[in-house]
Amino acid sequence: MKLIGVVGARPNFMKMAPIMRALAGSGIAGRLCHTGQHYDHNMSKVFFEDLELPRPDIYLGVGSGSHAEQTARIMVEFEKVVLDETPDLVMVVGDVNSTAACSMVCAKLWVPVAHVEAGLRSGDRTMPEEINRLVTDVLADLLFTTCADADENLKREGIDPAKIHFVGNVMIDSQQFYLAKAAGSDVMERLGLAAGGYGLITLHRPSNVDDPDIFRGILEALGEAGRRMPCVWPVHPRTRKMIEAFGIDAEPLGLRLVDPLGYLDFMRLMRDARIVMTDSGGIQEETTVLGIPCLTLRENTERPVTIELGTNRLVGTDPAAIRAAIVDALDGPPQPHSVPPLWDGHAAERIVEVLRSWRP
Ligand code: UD1
Repeated sequence: MKLIGVVGARPNFMKMAPIMRALAGSGIAGRLCHTGQHYDHNMSKVFFEDLELPRPDIYLGVGSGSHAEQTARIMVEFEKVVLDETPDLVMVVGDVNSTAACSMVCAKLWVPVAHVEAGLRSGDRTMPEEINRLVTDVLADLLFTTCADADENLKREGIDPAKIHFVGNVMIDSQQFYLAKAAGSDVMERLGLAAGGYGLITLHRPSNVDDPDIFRGILEALGEAGRRMPCVWPVHPRTRKMIEAFGIDAEPLGLRLVDPLGYLDFMRLMRDARIVMTDSGGIQEETTVLGIPCLTLRENTERPVTIELGTNRLVGTDPAAIRAAIVDALDGPPQPHSVPPLWDGHAAERIVEVLRSWRP
């Protein structure tokens, strides 16, 4: 069997790395295609190094643009790849534009698609990722899920249960695999931080950073944490653009802006943080397994299991609510938490097991 694995943006790399590793020696030939949705050294290349991902066999170089431009460019280029390579299966991960674009190409060329991290739903169609999730799942022939609620979402949408496989979380495979190596990162020394004595921030959702009033309100509320401890904020390129466009100065709020970090540095910072404040999807999962309190600065989440079982709290974006949640997380008793089922470091192996007995 010949498989093409697709990656495009930062949150894809840590999901694909364990799958590529598990494919080696499985009898399934895995080729790697990078769409180039993310292309900066610190958004892409450093992850290939940190995660020991093979150099992509195919690079599409599509770059940034509006959603339509980016999706269309990926489709045009990936169609050529599929026609040329004639894979038996294309594997996409997560919910970025590359995920949906490549799934649509395959559906029209009658090439089966496997979606890893299928079935997550925020119920919020103003999120570009929710559209990507819906489109990808309706087209996929194999749907690999991370949690029971994802299976339920898919069945409710009429997906044939025979296509759904609950395998666990490949992102946690990478976390478990690299945790010891991340412990050797010198990022804390570089930034002058002490374990348990700092906060960690990430923000990049268009709904949080594209509107100056919302963005400013969130930052001022985060100043509650910044007043009490150093708060490190590796700034995503789209967020950096907005900070410059709005003329925002976050340093007086105690927020320390740094460039985006590599995988190992960021994992070390997460592992030793007192609190994480984020609008990311994946970080809600990673903090849950690390047992670090996470405040999610969004109105909804597609990952409710991290709240039910893990350390995540859905705080919203109202500044008063953010402040109250910070005070509670720092001064209140720790939340009891556990690791969701099958988030055990072996999801990619289970995926390959399914693929070995799968026939189109
Ligand atoms: C994308 C994903 C999002 C994911 C995020 C993680 C979609 C719809 N969104 O959002 O789900 O959480 O990645 O980072 O696919 N830019 C650079 N260098 C890069 C990449 C981007 O400067 O290497 C800048 C560009 O100005 C670009 C902007 O960031 O316009 C946004 O990039 P884009 O890929 O459109 O979406 P993200 O916000 O990164």
